[in-house]
Amino acid sequence: MGGEFSTYMPKSTVTFMCSECGGESLRWAGQCPHCQAWNTLQEFQVRKAPSGRKQASAQGVPNRPVPLNEIESESSPRRRLAWGELNRVLGGGVVPGSVVLVGGEPGVGKSTLLMHVAQQVAAAEGGKVLYASGEESPQQVRMRAARLGPLSPGILLYAETDLDAICEAIRAEAPQLAIVDSIQTVTDAGFEGSAGSVTQVRESAARLMRLAKDTGVPVFLVGHVTKEGSIAGPRVLEHIVDTVLYLEGDRRQELRLLRATKNRFGSADEIGVFAMGETGLEEVADPSAAMLAAAAPTAPGTAIVTVLEGTRPLLVEVQSLVNKTANAMVRRVANGIDVNRLHMILAVLERRLKDTSFAQKDVFVSVAGGIRITEPAADLGLALSIVSNELARPMPDGLVAIGELGLTGEVRRVGHLERRLHEAARHGMTRALIPTGSRAGRPAGLDTVEVRSVAEAVSAAFPSPIRSGMFIKEAGLSVS
Ligand code: TYD
Ligand code: MG
Repeated sequence: MGGEFSTYMPKSTVTFMCSECGGESLRWAGQCPHCQAWNTLQEFQVRKAPSGRKQASAQGVPNRPVPLNEIESESSPRRRLAWGELNRVLGGGVVPGSVVLVGGEPGVGKSTLLMHVAQQVAAAEGGKVLYASGEESPQQVRMRAARLGPLSPGILLYAETDLDAICEAIRAEAPQLAIVDSIQTVTDAGFEGSAGSVTQVRESAARLMRLAKDTGVPVFLVGHVTKEGSIAGPRVLEHIVDTVLYLEGDRRQELRLLRATKNRFGSADEIGVFAMGETGLEEVADPSAAMLAAAAPTAPGTAIVTVLEGTRPLLVEVQSLVNKTANAMVRRVANGIDVNRLHMILAVLERRLKDTSFAQKDVFVSVAGGIRITEPAADLGLALSIVSNELARPMPDGLVAIGELGLTGEVRRVGHLERRLHEAARHGMTRALIPTGSRAGRPAGLDTVEVRSVAEAVSAAFPSPIRSGMFIKEAGLSVS
């Protein structure tokens, strides 16, 4: 079938592409064969004739294989921005000729972030930025920019959605940076489909990519993430562009994380932290301090955990609420962590701590600041916050809990313990519960207590009930 198809394949043909994962299919189907999402396949026009093959490279010199040692190490310097948090996620600054996709849900702050970037580039001597906006009117963009700082004459606003016009403007103005807000509003007249369709989004991005490589102008693209899949999401673009950054955060909260998920010019493991306020975004160079400052005064149910974001340790507050209910269906609500992880932790607590049952109780846990915890190193802290609320006893001041919980209640070792401990010490934590056998350097001023099991951790965090033996189910546990 496939062979037959290629024999008769016309110059221009149509396939289908999933707006969720970007996977291609020859036939339409209700479900994407690659990612199993429903109703996401869209018609996709394939570019005619492979014209790019014999083209010269960006500099007009025919491309050829080059010996490894003749390659210049850093061909063009990066443009560093005023905010260290931005430079960090970009891998050191803006690379000339690179295309950066900034994805995120509508309203999270993508346009605001890019206006800050524009202002920082335009603030340099002779700085010029082309901001193509198809999302908002020039008045709206001006209003936003005015909230963020003085209006710079170096930022050229271009209310345009036609790709030809945008490309021409980039060539003519030769700015230090071009911003297209958003890629879903742009249309290439050479292709069918309305703005936001898979064909349009992909082809427009590919053309901007070629233009960026050609002219050396870096291009930032805004891409809205939609859960519906009716509009082509940024995922369709991820493999076209050089760098993919996602702006995350709860719209009702201040904190925003800019996360690199792909970076041809740096680590794809970095995050930048920002806070949204009255005058736009601010960089948060010390997120742990910001999060601890906002933490609730030690109340039963709160605990401090360490979260590793890429290579960066953060101290984060988690909260739990355990509440008796008469309802037959108990509720388990997890904000910022996987609810299955919560189920697991509750089951371990029930089995490993004496007289503990959540059968008639609702349990709510949440992570402060809109952070999402995806690593198990926070298990122990979560478990202790639940116990703390259940006991109506606050965790001791200055205590941080680090460790993964195994199904038998054992506290398992976690990666980068040393970094976590240093971050905790740096922010005035005085005691850390850590897994036994961890071979990490212990920073000064931080007392480390090795715990083997969740029961031991409970006895270390809440010392008095343990003397009565209330919390130890297993015999033979050492009580200190
Ligand atoms: P925006 O950058 O327009 O989001 P996106 O481009 O991702 O759709 O940000 C919109 C939100 O940010 C809006 O809810 C208002 C808020 N905001 C502030 O709180 N303070 C500010 O100074 C600005 C400019 C926006
Ligand atoms: Mg916007």
